[in-house]
Amino acid sequence: MKRIAVLVSGGGTNLQALIDAIKNNYITEGYIEIVFSNKKDAYGLERAIKSGIKTMFLDPKEFKSREEYDEYLSGKMNSFNIDLICLAGYMRILTEKFLDKFKGKIMNIHPALLPSFGGPGMYGLNVHKAVIESGVKITGCTVHFVNKGVDTGPIIIQKCVAVDDNDTPETLQKKILEYEHKAYPEAVKLFTENRLKIVDKRVRII
Ligand code: GRF
Repeated sequence: MKRIAVLVSGGGTNLQALIDAIKNNYITEGYIEIVFSNKKDAYGLERAIKSGIKTMFLDPKEFKSREEYDEYLSGKMNSFNIDLICLAGYMRILTEKFLDKFKGKIMNIHPALLPSFGGPGMYGLNVHKAVIESGVKITGCTVHFVNKGVDTGPIIIQKCVAVDDNDTPETLQKKILEYEHKAYPEAVKLFTENRLKIVDKRVRII
C-alpha cells in the first residue's frame, strides 16, 4: 500500500476527488496518510477531518525561510513514510532541495493543457483568462510530475475541454474542474499500481 500525502492551500475539491476515489475502491493500492496546508483556513483541511484523515497546518510565519519550512515538511514526509506527494491547489513553490529528495514522487494538477498556459503567474482564473484571450478552441487539465521548473515536469495524464464562444474564465474553470476530478484519481491510481515509468521527459504507462 502506497502512503500518500496531499498538500493543499484552498478549497480542496481535488483532494475530495482523491478521498472519494479511495472510498469507492477506485484506488485500492494507496491511501491518504496526511493532508498538509500552509493556510490555516483552507477548506481542504476540513474535508480531510470529515473523512478521518490526519491534518497538519504548517504556518510559514513560524519558519525563518522557505528552505527551513520545506526542510521541516520533508522531515514529516519521512516520518510518515510517504511514497507519493500530491499537490492539490498548493500555492507555494517547493525548494530545490525538497524537489531533489522526492524526485519522481511529487505530482501536481494544472488547469490547462501544458506546456501551454503554465508557468509563474498561471494559476486560478489567470489561466482561463489567458486561454480565452488566446483564442484557442481546446483547453483542459494536466496531471504531471513536479520537476524544478514551474509546470514543466513529465506529463502523466491530460484531458481536453472545448472552449465555447460564450465561455468566461469562470465557466471554463468550472468545466475543467470536473475533468480534473477524473484525471487526478486516474494518475494516482496508476502510480499506486507501479504503472508509471518516467523515461526522460515522457511518462510511460506500463
Ligand atoms: C485546481 O484548479 C488545480 O488545477 C490547481 O488549483 C486548483 C485547486 O482546486 N492547481 P481545489 O483546491 O482542488 O478545489
